[in-house]
Amino acid sequence: MNAPAVPSAPSTARRSKSPQGVKITGTGSCLPATPLTNADLEKLMETSDEWIVQRTGIRSRYRINPALGESTHTLAAEALRRALAAAGLAATDLDLIIVATMTPEMACPASACRVAADVGATRAGAFDLNAACSGFVFGLNTAHDLIKGGAYRRIAVVGADCLSTLMDYSTAGRGTAIIFGDAAGAAIVEACDDAGKGILAQSMHCDGEGWKEIYVPECERDFPPGVACDPSKYGHVQMNGAAVFKFAVGTFSDLIQETLDAAGMAAADLDMLVCHQSNMRILQSARERFGLPEDKLYVNIDRVGNTVGASVPLCLDELCRAGRIKPGQKVMFVAFGGGLTWGSSLWQL
Ligand code: COA
Repeated sequence: MNAPAVPSAPSTARRSKSPQGVKITGTGSCLPATPLTNADLEKLMETSDEWIVQRTGIRSRYRINPALGESTHTLAAEALRRALAAAGLAATDLDLIIVATMTPEMACPASACRVAADVGATRAGAFDLNAACSGFVFGLNTAHDLIKGGAYRRIAVVGADCLSTLMDYSTAGRGTAIIFGDAAGAAIVEACDDAGKGILAQSMHCDGEGWKEIYVPECERDFPPGVACDPSKYGHVQMNGAAVFKFAVGTFSDLIQETLDAAGMAAADLDMLVCHQSNMRILQSARERFGLPEDKLYVNIDRVGNTVGASVPLCLDELCRAGRIKPGQKVMFVAFGGGLTWGSSLWQL
């Protein structure tokens, strides 16, 4: 019996020789066309620029406009096109596409499959990964270890989220609507011959009991015990801001320390700390705890808000394009988010 024809599919057989090292060879990002400033929010709900800036450090964020054709997968595809251009690769060079998102347009297909089609990645496997704001960091760790295992050589990791689709832009939703923005960021991860390049230490954590601190209810059973079902909240992010703040401040610092310890490094050895942009006060507390100078902990939350899975790769791309992240440096990526999840990825670039 003849085997069915498989059109130029990538080989998934383990290669005989595992790569020496792994490197990030290109980055890209994409923001929607339309900003949503604090002044815009003042017109939609009872809030003020002063309150938002004081509590979060956010002055503006971006919101997709579906009438312009913007969505999670279109932002993701554009970020990936830019990352491929930076890496000097064609989409057909990719073996795998991982899209970290909690806002796919549909339950099926995965956004990663739409992205593969959009960019023309005809040889690549593709899947979505949902670890909320930690998704890109989890994806980076996954891609690195898949390449180290020898079965894949070129993987695109994309973080893309449009939380605006899960917001209530009325006063009832002001506790979350002021925080989140839409964006996508991408990184190309490739095998290389330099054994010194790749991840020095990594972690991926979850506290499933903490699910009730950030969730998106769709029906009655989705509300945590003790919380009354309220259909007006269906489809909108519900967040216990104070609990998340407390979790984040403690976890962020512990996560950075744990990762430094695993690599046998001190904070002073880091060239850059790329943190998930959740809240300016959370970022400042991490910076102060480790005595890092301002230029070693990147901040863009004032311009883009909390962009969830896109947050870390957007920072990475802005830093690469500004020449502030370069080969040879030691860079730590850290994130935390719904789940609750948190994770780190410390690279020798
Ligand atoms: N504008 C004006 N007032 C607002 C408001 C807004 N956008 N949102 C809430 N308030 C009001 C509340 O109704 C409350 O009023 P009350 O005291 O009369 O009830 C008051 O401000 C304080 O609310 P609270 O929720 O306690 O504020 P806070 O100091 O905890 O700040 C967050 C709220 C969300 C900014 C803060 O908790 C936070 O940043 N948490 C972490 C969130 C996070 O990082 N999430 C991302 C996870 S990846």
